[in-house]
Amino acid sequence: MLRLYSISNYGIMVFKMEWRNILEISDGVYWVGVKDWDRRLFDSLIPLPKGTSYNAYLVIGDNWKVLVDTVNPGFEAELHSRISRIIDPEEIDYIVMNHAEPDHAGAIPYLMRINDKAKLVTTPRGAKMAQTYYSVDEKRIVTVTDQERISIGGKTLRFIEAPMLHWPETMFTYLEEDGILFSCDFFGSHLAAGFFDDEVEDLLVHAQRYWGEIMMPFRSMGGKALEKIKDLNIRVIAPSHGPIHRNIRRILDAYQGWVRGDTKSKASIIYVSMWRHTESMIQLAAETLMAEGVNVAIYNLTVSDIGDLVKDLVDSRAIVIGAPTVLGGAHPLAVYASYLIKALRPPLRYMLLLSSYGWGGGAIRHLRGILEGTGSEIVGSIEVNGPPSADDMNRIIELSRTLAQKIKGGE
Ligand SMILES: Cc1cc2nc3c(=O)[nH]c(=O)nc-3n(C[C@H](O)[C@H](O)[C@H](O)COP(=O)(O)O)c2cc1C
Ligand SMILES: [Fe+2]
Ligand SMILES: [Fe+2]
Repeated sequence: MLRLYSISNYGIMVFKMEWRNILEISDGVYWVGVKDWDRRLFDSLIPLPKGTSYNAYLVIGDNWKVLVDTVNPGFEAELHSRISRIIDPEEIDYIVMNHAEPDHAGAIPYLMRINDKAKLVTTPRGAKMAQTYYSVDEKRIVTVTDQERISIGGKTLRFIEAPMLHWPETMFTYLEEDGILFSCDFFGSHLAAGFFDDEVEDLLVHAQRYWGEIMMPFRSMGGKALEKIKDLNIRVIAPSHGPIHRNIRRILDAYQGWVRGDTKSKASIIYVSMWRHTESMIQLAAETLMAEGVNVAIYNLTVSDIGDLVKDLVDSRAIVIGAPTVLGGAHPLAVYASYLIKALRPPLRYMLLLSSYGWGGGAIRHLRGILEGTGSEIVGSIEVNGPPSADDMNRIIELSRTLAQKIKGGE
């Protein structure tokens, strides 16, 4: 509702928005979350160029009123006010905790304080975490196991355990009559804009980035979860970050590919270089790969958003890493990136390492040590003294061609 107000003593006209801002997803199912437009970092690690949202959902049954997930600490008042537009928060009977991480469970202590009848619904592992992290009284916790149902009057909530997506206690909540899957972090994206998937032009790019950052290390668990939900009659997927998917096929298809670890004829190339010697080696490798028809995504680690790299790691078949030797090992930025790559477990098949050194070298040995055990084949490495010579250049071109053949041949 838009109202026009006249403030006569100042003699000016102002518009005042009286915007109810209630988003009803289905009959009696409301979005009551928070948009965090300004947030720029998550987990003290991941840049959020587009902010994020903490999606909480209110489900009103004939007998019980249920809140599915809450919001990040610091947004309790906003959550309260949004719920209040529909019901008094003290009327909530159950708070479902799909996940114990504070971005979704952070407002549980507040809600359970102002509402002393509300019970917390979670997995047995979630119950333990709720006590540890949020001091929730055991007597106020209802634990549910896989496929258990609770009828709230005209609506049925089914709980689906989805462990390690991405913490051990995680579950989905499925609202059977409405076909809504509250999937928590799974299917999410860090985006403040857009309530529905079709309102964001590049949603899949953000969803891929989110997958890489949060879910990629748990691909096999992701596959199990997809298998579990495949026969549900899902109409809407309502994750806890980013837009709600009302075109579910698109995100489900993307997830199928990411879970399988489908890769493209593509190489992610990351490097750091103090005096551009390693950089010139990297450029040559990149140009050779491109000339061979391989798609490349290049990141200078000194200026790159690590989330963009992670997005590309999701479907890259190879990685090329360039780093000079610094103090007997690889440049610290390359160490950091390599460690992160190992931890995130992307489906990379091949690796190539390039380095320039001044005297004793050591960067390649260092990187090999970090990257061993990733399951990717190190196709080769070249460590040159100072700037690459014509001979070194030829070796780089040759090795890059070999890599390109492997990338193109390795589905
Ligand atoms: C701070 C610093 C520390 C370095 N430490 C080593 C080292 O321990 N061993 C070595 O062989 N070279 C070392 N170097 C030399 C560089 O590895 C060498 O200059 C290399 O060619 C730089 O490659 P870049 O142009 O890609 O940065 C160091 C250089 C700098 C600036
Ligand atoms: Fe999480
Ligand atoms: Fe989250």
